[in-house]
Amino acid sequence: MEGIDKTNLPKHIAITMDGNGRWAKTKGKVRIFGHQGGVKAVRETVEAAAKIGIKYLTLYAFSTENWDRPENEINALMTLLVSSIHKETKTLMNNNIQLTTIGNIKSLPSNAQKKLEEAIEKTKDNSKMMLVLALSYSSRWEILNAVENIIKDGLTSNQVNEDTFRQYLTTKNVPDPELLIRTSGEQRISNFLLWQIAYSELYFTDTLWPDFRKADLEKAILDYQSRERRFGKTTEQRQK
Ligand code: IPE
Ligand code: IPE
Ligand code: MG
Repeated sequence: MEGIDKTNLPKHIAITMDGNGRWAKTKGKVRIFGHQGGVKAVRETVEAAAKIGIKYLTLYAFSTENWDRPENEINALMTLLVSSIHKETKTLMNNNIQLTTIGNIKSLPSNAQKKLEEAIEKTKDNSKMMLVLALSYSSRWEILNAVENIIKDGLTSNQVNEDTFRQYLTTKNVPDPELLIRTSGEQRISNFLLWQIAYSELYFTDTLWPDFRKADLEKAILDYQSRERRFGKTTEQRQK
């Protein structure tokens, strides 16, 4: 953890965990093997983030568009989700981490929903860090969902502003991420947190997700700390 400035930590880090399939391919294995390999990276990253002092960690685990993948891959991912949540609840309890989700959770298989509900209930009083799993999530889904609910609630046009809109997003209990990390060398957003990353710092690494470890997280945080965040203002204004 050398070099990390504890007074300038991002409160919220979001990660697009990409590259499982390619990782498996380099090992001559099927894609599912890569997803299994990704579970270890999740465990280590979650524990490391909590230890460093990150307050919110959002992991993009399954997108709305991922439903278009081959059926056997989707089934394997859902099975892996169920077994991992079951096994890792202990890790969350040991590290005082609260689990929550964002996304269209109702679209998940019922056993996955049940396991998630159990883990959410069990960890609800944990306070060191909030782990947010993005499952069957996409930003366009989230924004349309918000608009639909705003109309259903009968808000008038002068009631719709940034603050009220935020309350209709699935991330309403989470501050915007200061840092968004994407692994595997792809430099795109893929429908993740479009509203919330308006002023996030973006960090891309070639590391494939199953190889991602504490040192990679620390490197990303150090990079973040070297940046000047201006929010539209000038450097001179910031130095005042
Ligand atoms: C990320 O790895 C995991 C999910 C999207 C579920 P990928 O499965 O996208 O791996 P690549 O990008 O094909 O290597
Ligand atoms: C983004 O990865 C979604 C997740 C990591 C869950 P994808 O592999 O689905 O993204 P694209 O298709 O390369 O944009
Ligand atoms: Mg991918």
